[in-house]
Amino acid sequence: MTAALRLTDLSKTFPVGKRLFGPPKGRVRAVRPVTLIVEHGETLGIVGESGCGKSTLARMLVGLIPPSTGTIAIDGRAFDNSDPAAFGKRVQYVFQDPISSLNPRKSIRQVMEAPLKHLHGMNRAERATRIAEIFDLVSLRQEFLERYPHEFSGGQAQRIGIARALAAEARILILDEPVSALDVSVQAQVLNLLNRLKTELGLTYVFISHDLAVIEAVSDRVVVLYFGSVVEVGPADAIFARPRHPYTQLLADSAPRVGRPLEAPEARETELPDPLNPPPGCPFTPRCPRATEICRAEDPPLEAKAPGQLAACHHPL
Ligand SMILES: Nc1ncnc2c1ncn2[C@@H]1O[C@H](COP(=O)(O)OP(=O)(O)OP(=O)(O)O)[C@@H](O)[C@H]1O
Ligand code: SF4
Ligand SMILES: [Mg+2]
Repeated sequence: MTAALRLTDLSKTFPVGKRLFGPPKGRVRAVRPVTLIVEHGETLGIVGESGCGKSTLARMLVGLIPPSTGTIAIDGRAFDNSDPAAFGKRVQYVFQDPISSLNPRKSIRQVMEAPLKHLHGMNRAERATRIAEIFDLVSLRQEFLERYPHEFSGGQAQRIGIARALAAEARILILDEPVSALDVSVQAQVLNLLNRLKTELGLTYVFISHDLAVIEAVSDRVVVLYFGSVVEVGPADAIFARPRHPYTQLLADSAPRVGRPLEAPEARETELPDPLNPPPGCPFTPRCPRATEICRAEDPPLEAKAPGQLAACHHPL
């Protein structure tokens, strides 16, 4: 069967310090070339600290920003940013901050109608029927449709965000920190809803979080990002039973409980490398207890260390 998503050498570099004339002062390599497959029906968890490139990767996957290099195939078909509607019917984005991601001047009905009008060309009656169905599906009351975003709690607003993503009839959702802005009890409700929707509708999720415990709870497979690179990828049970990359181990040691933010002990003392001027070799070297000379000189390739489990490390665990 063809994969739901296939990324090949997908990368993003941002110019920074733009000048009126001449080239920009520098470039940030937000995402280094990533090659990955997401299978139909799976939840791929992406975890990493703030600034490691999670949202940049997510925005490329829904066509919000063009990649600097590489390709995206959805259901075996190549996609680029020249046709956002074609993207939108297949892949939708759920934002971290549900309230500010909704236009404050539009009623929830207007928010819900936009993808049905623009992507599917539905008439008013068809839209009303479809919206009523989706609201039932996500357990939202129909009367909410005539209200405005600021009238909702974070949990309700995130349900609306999920409903909006489903309205486009996309079967792949990119969930960028969907529960990070919510209280722990509300987090559990939203995670349960996502789990139910996935089974009922046969959805595929790319689930992004900085919280390793949330990633462990939801993922079939896990990708660990560090400084724009995939440093480890594999089945969730294998990664959590035996991480091979020292950074994954550090995350596991520092985030044992659901809801505890991911912050490695060393993170407080050791900064990430300067993104404008990255040092050669493995970017984790300054924080790594296993670092040797070769780590400072050569960036390790992502290689199989166990069945289905790849890590980018000269001295894997
Ligand atoms: N439009 C932009 N222009 C310049 N640099 C950018 C831009 N967007 C992101 N970056 C840089 O790219 C890197 C990755 O950012 P990104 O937002 O993808 O990280 P993240 O993992 O989502 O972080 P967070 O957990 O804080 O949401 C950071 O160094 C960031 O400063
Ligand atoms: S390559 Fe070296 S520095 Fe990088 S994670 Fe592995 S052991 Fe640590
Ligand atoms: Mg982000």
